[in-house]
Amino acid sequence: KDCCICCDSLKNVSSFPADDDESCEDNPNRVIKLHKCSHVFHYNCLLAMYNSGKKEGSIQCPSCKYIYGIKYGDCPSGSMSYEILNNCSLSGYPDCGVIKITYDIKNGIQESFHPNPGKQYTATGFPRYGYLPHNLDGLKILQLLKKAWFRRLTFTIGTSVTTGRANVVVWNEIHHKTEMDNKSGHGYPDPEYLNNVTKELTFHGVVEKDDNEL
Ligand code: APR
Ligand code: ZN
Ligand code: ZN
Repeated sequence: KDCCICCDSLKNVSSFPADDDESCEDNPNRVIKLHKCSHVFHYNCLLAMYNSGKKEGSIQCPSCKYIYGIKYGDCPSGSMSYEILNNCSLSGYPDCGVIKITYDIKNGIQESFHPNPGKQYTATGFPRYGYLPHNLDGLKILQLLKKAWFRRLTFTIGTSVTTGRANVVVWNEIHHKTEMDNKSGHGYPDPEYLNNVTKELTFHGVVEKDDNEL
């Protein structure tokens, strides 16, 4: 079998040099099997992949994308809060109220791990709102969105597809319903939304029960 990081056979030595305290100088063809998904790589290849990233304590299996450890993002500091609106409902959820989430982020200076360290970033369109049905499924998603927020995964700094502006705070692949109706196409009804956002959260390693130790 091949190691999918270097595309070479697992029987051959990793093409990544053993230039690190933790690499396997004594046994450069050591392989490692990830314990949840059972995918196998050269140890040195996986270490090189980890070292080329943010080194924040998590690894995503390059084969199946399973996340070991906890993945953190680079969302700037700000606030997340929510309230329950009992006097309205979302299309598709006529029997319950609405959870309204508020995110607020202010302009600031990019840190070393952002795209342009030292440069200003602009938080446009804040406060931003996200809407969920106030039922059991919606409350579950709210818990996951809180986890995502505390792990700094909700927004990132980059170029906005919508406005074309660089160095701005943008949504980070965890879609939110930013309106209750559907004038801009980012609201309700959308029978697939709760499933889809659950999948997006899982992709970031945000699940109800954390059992993804390295
Ligand atoms: N509501 C929710 N999600 C949106 C919206 C919107 N109005 N517009 C775009 N997205 C999604 C996109 O589908 C994409 O997946 O956010 C992701 C990032 O798109 P960008 O345009 O790069 O993100 P950003 O600039 O953060 O957002 C654009 O979202 O909340 C609004 O006020 C915000 O109008 C702005 C819009
Ligand atoms: Zn390899
Ligand atoms: Zn895997």
